[in-house]
Amino acid sequence: MALPEEFLQELRARSDITEVASQYVSLKRRGRNMVGLCPFHGEKTPSFNIYTETNSFYCFGCGAGGDVITFVMRIENLDYIEAVRLLAQRAGMSMPSENYDDSLAKLKRRIYEANRETARFFFRTLYSPIGRSGLEYLRSRGLSDKTIRHFGLGFAPDSRFDLSNHLRQKGFTDEELVAANLAYKNKNGRGTNDRFYNRVMFPIIDVRGNVIAFGGRIMTDEKPKYLNTSDTLVFNKSQNLFSLNNAKKTTDRTLILCEGYMDVIAVNQAGFENAVATLGTSLTSEQAVLMKRFADEVIICYDADEAGQKATRRAISILRKAGLEVRVLVVPDGKDPDEFIRKNGDNGGAAFYSLINASTNDIEYKLNKLKRNYDLSLPDQRVRFLNEASGVLAELEKPLEQETYASRLSEELGVSRESIMQEVTRLKRSRARGEKKKEFSRLAGSLAGRDDRLTPHRREELRASRAEENLLSVLINYPEEYSYISSHITADSFVTDFNRRLYRYFASKLDNGSQVLNTVSGDFSQAEINRIFSIANISRGISPSAEAIDEYIRVLSEEKDKLSAEQIANASTQTLSDYISKLKSKRE
Ligand code: CTP
Ligand code: MN
Repeated sequence: MALPEEFLQELRARSDITEVASQYVSLKRRGRNMVGLCPFHGEKTPSFNIYTETNSFYCFGCGAGGDVITFVMRIENLDYIEAVRLLAQRAGMSMPSENYDDSLAKLKRRIYEANRETARFFFRTLYSPIGRSGLEYLRSRGLSDKTIRHFGLGFAPDSRFDLSNHLRQKGFTDEELVAANLAYKNKNGRGTNDRFYNRVMFPIIDVRGNVIAFGGRIMTDEKPKYLNTSDTLVFNKSQNLFSLNNAKKTTDRTLILCEGYMDVIAVNQAGFENAVATLGTSLTSEQAVLMKRFADEVIICYDADEAGQKATRRAISILRKAGLEVRVLVVPDGKDPDEFIRKNGDNGGAAFYSLINASTNDIEYKLNKLKRNYDLSLPDQRVRFLNEASGVLAELEKPLEQETYASRLSEELGVSRESIMQEVTRLKRSRARGEKKKEFSRLAGSLAGRDDRLTPHRREELRASRAEENLLSVLINYPEEYSYISSHITADSFVTDFNRRLYRYFASKLDNGSQVLNTVSGDFSQAEINRIFSIANISRGISPSAEAIDEYIRVLSEEKDKLSAEQIANASTQTLSDYISKLKSKRE
């Protein structure tokens, strides 16, 4: 990845991370920096920080950190070269001559192209004699030609070779077909078999308009009913949503979340473009965060069966965590939205609209659901219902919400509002205590270096690690201290492997007069970049004193001199007595 340093420096200078990030996150100024809700994990209180001075970000909630290139890589799901290219375009800079290794980016581009060509092929086939059964199937499910075209639906012919042959003719290699998961290698190792055959096909398109995957439905009762593209270089099923490319145009920042492809399409055809669906898995927090980019409110519209209702409860909590308002639409008579709209014929759109209007917010939904389990004319059942209902209210963040629903329950059940609120407050406190405990043990665990893969020995070498991290942090924020530091220590003075590697890297940059962080987003893994930017935070804005730097250097040399228990056991008498006299002289 050898992009010229000067190019990267200019790119970074022209790409203000505040400007770039505010396209995805709403940011508020806090002192010199900006804060907002982290786009990389669900949260309700902002812990995502942008440091304007170093043009970098760090989230104290999930530990994600990096520079403007890393930010674009993560939020747009791009690799390094692609992110650089996007930023260069934005800054009006041309890419330097392409002599760097971008084979991965090239393969990704080929996969996008193969997918696009495949979508065209499936669509054409659907309207050819071979596709007749497919077209009949889609029409039997009530889809108009306009809808079919709008979604680019298609048909995979009943052959294991047609698509592969077509794509080869268009210049795609077998490796590219396999990488796109459109085909798999034959058992005998020669040629490929098509992954999809004899199915109606649903292309999955991302928010930038790339065809990233396909879902295919079989037209009989055979299994599997739906076959989807497995994860590829350009597709991760837990990070995308079906039809978000259409739904993102929503003008009222509301999305309708359905369970399946056919539901989304039926809802669209009925006049609501803002429907999306997960891709054969249950909702993830990444998908919720993705929705938050385009919406403030999500209407959950899952199947009315038990599984659908269970999924609804789960989705409510995931969506709320991402800062979304939630409503729940209940489809009557145990039908799914597609069946409901079909059953209402020409009136489908209006009927669905009245369901949207009748949809309640998530709290009402939960309370109504609870209520059905009790006979409220019996006092003891009333008490049990109230206890459970208080539990629902205790989950709410806003006191206003709690008060409102407490008032409603009080009127409905003839119990004083105060006594309901008392119970809610009690539950809320005991939950907060539980949460705090959990949070504390998580924090303690991470501080103690448990589950630390980058520096597995951090816990045993805590004193040395801290000194190392402090020194590295000084180098990042105060590079002018480098000449002093490097005249007292070398990379060999470092005790832990990752920090030693970092020091060597920083030193080589500083020796060349380059910026320390200029190239890290291309040279380190995601987890390593997170760590580097967390280390940067240690000394941010705290100009280090000469004494502090001396202290870090002293601690490091002391720790380095310590012999491990194992080394002591195997050491010669001479080594040991040298070691002891060294320790003695240090103490004086
Ligand atoms: N799904 C899947 N694989 C399966 C079954 C389902 O990936 N074998 C996913 C699909 O994305 C599907 C969604 O789960 O759209 C919902 O499944 P289901 O409710 O069974 O299907 P419907 O959407 O109702 O599909 P249809 O109306 O065509 O039967
Ligand atoms: Mn269905």
